Amino acid sequence: MDWIITATLFCSVLKAALGFNIDSRPWKSLSNSAAGFGYQVVQRRSDLLVSAPLEQYSKDRRGRIFQCSTDVCKNIFSAEQNAAVNMSLGLTMANDPSTQRTMVCGPTIPRDCKSITMYNGLCFEIDQNDGLGKSYPTATEDCRTQADIAFLLDGSGSVRPDDFRRMKTFVKNLITSFLGRDVKFAITQFSSRTIIHFYFNQFSASNWQNQIDQISQLNGGTNTAAAIRNVV
Ligand SMILES: *[C@@H]1O[C@H](CO)[C@@H](O)[C@H](O)[C@H]1NC(C)=O
Repeated sequence: MDWIITATLFCSVLKAALGFNIDSRPWKSLSNSAAGFGYQVVQRRSDLLVSAPLEQYSKDRRGRIFQCSTDVCKNIFSAEQNAAVNMSLGLTMANDPSTQRTMVCGPTIPRDCKSITMYNGLCFEIDQNDGLGKSYPTATEDCRTQADIAFLLDGSGSVRPDDFRRMKTFVKNLITSFLGRDVKFAITQFSSRTIIHFYFNQFSASNWQNQIDQISQLNGGTNTAAAIRNVV
């Protein structure tokens, strides 16, 4: 017998194990109203683990894991107790057939770092009895206080002058929100060619707004690839 998991948006058919014959009559269909149900499926010796990574089941919890037999699916509650904020648990899932342990991950844990939100991920191990093991890494990363931020402005001819001004305003607002912290900036513009307006060590704490105002649009073609290489 093969298994089919259905959901409104996601549909996933298990990889048939080598040596199985597939009987086309008794298809088994499992469905559940949890958002994203069936996004990831792992097959264990006698059951399945099915994820629903988009299920927002409380204000700060997203992503559920179900253990499914041929008839019913039930929530693995222990996974929820350990889940981190809005992590989208079950966006990735992998099973080790030799130990029957499954790694379940959620990569969207938000961390408010003043003006920006950084996203971290965590993975948990689920053993064959649905017990929860260690998390990897053991904790999510702290906000980094140092950063080098490089802006790359598209100054090609297809960008309207007022949109180019809007880009410069965006850059200025972002820089303003970081002032007073250990952050450096560089600005590059590209069209057919790439020019560096200032390097990290040329950013002037007193004159930077003026430096940005003086950037004028290059116009011309759009050689994005060369520009990115240049910035890197
Ligand atoms: C988690 O997501 C929900 C729904 O998008 C949102 O309302 C809530 O504020 C989020 N919680 C945090 C701590 O970001």
